[in-house]
Amino acid sequence: MKYTREYFEQMPVRQGTMSTKWDWCNTRFKLPADAKVLPMWVADMDFYSPREVIEAVKMRADLGCWGYTCKTPELFDAIVGWVARRYGWQTAREEICLTPGVIPGFHMAIQAFTNPGDGVIIQPPVYYPFKSGVEINGRVVVNNPLKEKDGEWTIDFDDLEAKAKDPHTTMMIFCNPHNPAGRAWSAEDVARVAGICECHGVVLVSDEIHADLIMPGHEHHAACAVCPDLKNNCVTFYAPSKTFNLAGLQTAYAVIPGAELRSKFQKALEVAHLGIANSFGIAAMIAAYTHCDDYVTALCEYVDANMDFMKEFIETRLPELKMKKSQATYMVWVDFRGTGMNADEIENFILYKAKIATDMGRWFGPGGEGWLRFNLAVPRALLEKALLQLEAALKNR
Ligand SMILES: Cc1ncc(COP(=O)(O)O)c(C=O)c1O
Repeated sequence: MKYTREYFEQMPVRQGTMSTKWDWCNTRFKLPADAKVLPMWVADMDFYSPREVIEAVKMRADLGCWGYTCKTPELFDAIVGWVARRYGWQTAREEICLTPGVIPGFHMAIQAFTNPGDGVIIQPPVYYPFKSGVEINGRVVVNNPLKEKDGEWTIDFDDLEAKAKDPHTTMMIFCNPHNPAGRAWSAEDVARVAGICECHGVVLVSDEIHADLIMPGHEHHAACAVCPDLKNNCVTFYAPSKTFNLAGLQTAYAVIPGAELRSKFQKALEVAHLGIANSFGIAAMIAAYTHCDDYVTALCEYVDANMDFMKEFIETRLPELKMKKSQATYMVWVDFRGTGMNADEIENFILYKAKIATDMGRWFGPGGEGWLRFNLAVPRALLEKALLQLEAALKNR
């Protein structure tokens, strides 16, 4: 099917559908059940999945019988094809391990490749389950904070090298592209991170779940595509969930070219008995990875236009705020520090005055104070409504 902007202007009904973003919002933000807040938090999309995926899932539903499901060669071929076509990385069927999500995947990686008490590097402000994943598994978070100047977030390589040198540090979880900073790291950045990890015996876990959501004019650089020599030291996670709005189908995968790392990872999956496939997730992934390249192109163009719209609105009507367009992901990271409010006041303002639920900067760790993350995978009309609410609230505060 041909995808145009009209496809993304339709608003699926989400209220009352067990949607975390819409139906769990008031609970998450401790709001009264009848409070009317516009949810722009959580990373899923207020867009329909591609038609081809909807049809594939309907066909599965029509079977009326969903017993244990096997992972067919067709599934692995679809993944190998996608990774080669989209990220320029030639993998092989046997290098792929299915997981029920990227978060369960990196929890397994922590268990498989590190020991209790080991240090795991993360780069805050970063997707908050990295920190909680390290801590809940009894490992120690080692922060290598990103540096920020005029809204541009970069890696502090000297600090990274110093932290990686510590013999207690055995793993790094790299957010590539970076959520929430919206950076599609350059090939040089990726190569430097990979080189430092390799040199100091630190296993590189590259979370590339946002690899398809690259805005026009930017590129994704898969760690193992940039550094083929890295293959014995790197585990990469992908999923069709962000790209095609399939998070509820709980299907993701790791690509692990190194035999030793792969066998340790498979063992951890076996211990947790997580090798079983989701019948709907597999059908959706095969359809998405086989027929939906055009959807991704149109989606990224739509999100990029939303970013232009929001940037222009902020620059012309909300001068206290600052935002840079993201190079990747459908989130934008907005700087509220110019309002003069502290982090508590910003959170209260966005929820109670603007009546918008966003991911709060502090959730992402050091460096996040004073920032809010907005999800722009929404029809333009919803974005415009949110911006008008924000403008009115800023005027009346
Ligand atoms: C960087 C990153 N990793 C992982 C996830 C979630 O992965 P999953 O739902 O497959 O566990 C997200 C969701 O927003 C994310 O941004």
